[in-house]
Amino acid sequence: MEIDAAQRTWNVRDLSCVWHPFTQALKARSPIPILKGQGAYLYSESGDAYLDAISSWWVNLHGHAHPHIAKAIAAQAQELEHVLFAGFTHPQAIVLAERLISILPEGYSRVFYSDNGSTSVEVALKMALQASGNGKQLLSFQGAYHGDTFGAMAAAGKSHYNRPFWPYLFQVHSIPPPLPGKESESWEAFECALSSGHIAAFIFEPIIQGAGGMRMHCRETLAQMIKACQSQGIITIADEVMTGFGRTGPLFACQLLGVLPDLVCLSKGITGGFLPLGATIAKEFLFNAFLSPDPQKAFLHGHSYTANPLACAAANASLDLLLTPECTKARTMIESSHQQFRRAWGKHPKLNRCDCLGTILAIEYHNCRPLKERLSDFFLGRQILIRPLENVLYLLPPYCITALELKKIYSTIAATLEEWP
Ligand SMILES: Cc1ncc(COP(=O)(O)O)c(C=O)c1O
Repeated sequence: MEIDAAQRTWNVRDLSCVWHPFTQALKARSPIPILKGQGAYLYSESGDAYLDAISSWWVNLHGHAHPHIAKAIAAQAQELEHVLFAGFTHPQAIVLAERLISILPEGYSRVFYSDNGSTSVEVALKMALQASGNGKQLLSFQGAYHGDTFGAMAAAGKSHYNRPFWPYLFQVHSIPPPLPGKESESWEAFECALSSGHIAAFIFEPIIQGAGGMRMHCRETLAQMIKACQSQGIITIADEVMTGFGRTGPLFACQLLGVLPDLVCLSKGITGGFLPLGATIAKEFLFNAFLSPDPQKAFLHGHSYTANPLACAAANASLDLLLTPECTKARTMIESSHQQFRRAWGKHPKLNRCDCLGTILAIEYHNCRPLKERLSDFFLGRQILIRPLENVLYLLPPYCITALELKKIYSTIAATLEEWP
């Protein structure tokens, strides 16, 4: 890819002062300076238009720089940019809480705001442990990812994402997830964990593990597990940071389970990808568990930017768009396009698996050599932004993507299957 003089300047300036996430700076290629976003595209300084097939780390819902959300933020910025959220409140946060509760399955009644996905998980863990911990442990699935703060890392258990911190993570009870064909192994480990009597809370990514490789779970087994926990007073936490706001088909993946976890963690798509915001949604019994004349029994947790009005305004504007019939139609189109791709290519001998869930498509290449870098470069060379998880290539596009744009991505995948040695 040609790098022009100005772009080189941005790169040089970036390389001299910026430390990027999840990046080995010693050998990473220079980051691509992006100056504009519109619809499903990100425009680099040199004028390249990258089709964003992964919604910029799964946050964008309706396309980049969507005018409806941009306007809502601008209007809010001229009214109230921020106010502390202990002892004060504001209309955007109240309206958003009301709307979140109304679009979630019936049974939730309290919204606790924070800043991002990891903090929405931290909040859920702390609520669950304070309400019923008594020194008991968390139960979670191997291969989970719940974020990069310490509680979120610990909850996910030891993985390559958190190796340097293994000695510092609190202990969790980690069991194999109910992957297709592994349901009984998972269920036996689950029963064994519960019979120990040492479990306070169970955290999981509903139906699909994201960063762990876009791995689908058997929903019946997961639903059984949630019910079993609830019958024993074990608090259940659905981490819907990736799956929330329509990614898996319905607005929330939990709707596919037919059972309501006690806490739901939301972030990423909540603001349509404009501003960081986390929300932990609780049932009333959890809220009540913190009511006491003793101030120390309150939930003593908060962040400076909790319920930031600009972020809440963005979230309300994103909900306006999400709840239109056009958006549902767009998600249905993406889902049926993915399924069509799966029918055509899913059994290709170079693939271990090809899974679809709502707007998410995941294919795993059957190759012992690491393909991550090669795949990224190949797609970037064709101006498509993807970010494989090892040998798993997935699509998680913004809902504004067109059938034609999806076709371009599918044919690029097909090229890797047919043309690569
Ligand atoms: C399921 C899940 N939970 C939590 C997180 C952490 O979110 P954040 O990166 O906003 O802290 C992620 C991020 O990818 C996620 O996929």
